[in-house]
Amino acid sequence: MKTISRTNSRTSIKGPAVAPPSVDLSAAEPSADCALCPRLVEFRQENIRTYPDYFNAPAPTFGDARAKLLIVGLAPGLHGANKTGRPFTGDYAGDLLYGTIAKFGFSNDRYDARPDDGLVLKAAAITNAVRCVPPQNKPNGAEIKTCRPFLSAQIDGMRQMRAILCLGRIAHQSTLAALGIKQKDAPFAHGANYTVPGRNFSLFDSYHCSRYNTNTGRLTEAMFESVFAAIRAHIDAGG
Ligand code: URA
Repeated sequence: MKTISRTNSRTSIKGPAVAPPSVDLSAAEPSADCALCPRLVEFRQENIRTYPDYFNAPAPTFGDARAKLLIVGLAPGLHGANKTGRPFTGDYAGDLLYGTIAKFGFSNDRYDARPDDGLVLKAAAITNAVRCVPPQNKPNGAEIKTCRPFLSAQIDGMRQMRAILCLGRIAHQSTLAALGIKQKDAPFAHGANYTVPGRNFSLFDSYHCSRYNTNTGRLTEAMFESVFAAIRAHIDAGG
């Protein structure tokens, strides 16, 4: 197993991944009434009753398919992305994520926790490994797997992409599975940076910018920024 400890030490992953021949983003979004995961559908129906003003549907990817950076989170928060319909918007994790994105030039810095705040991403897109809000913020293995085709289609449709940032282990593992890469060939580590075989992009890891991780000091602002600095440098260098 390879040891990765710094954002500036890149590791190549062996493997057979080959870029798909065509772009088709129609398969990248579940329908608003997606019924693939019974537990998540039940939770959605409960939330529609309790919070009728919320979005209460799979939160679609935010950003342009021509983006150079795709950020992959875990799943919408109940009172954040599930309320607003935009990934990380209104979620505690969104404050750090959107602040950092702006600092590194990936947005126009207009984030105000509302989908109509005028925020525009620049060369970036944000999605989730699981598009529907799960109970207790915890999607189960079957749900992560069932939602993966949407992540795969998103990745495959982004032909100008130079970097994927996985926020947390589950996003990392689902992204590897979407790319057909074995987990043992690219273990999750904060600050890891992998070149992906057969593709024009690299994969970067960070601890998830969740309230728990930031409150416990597992992820500091400086740690998060150093991952973004590595991504910015990678993209600016032509990927
Ligand atoms: N909100 C999201 O949209 N995704 C996360 O991973 C966390 C909060």
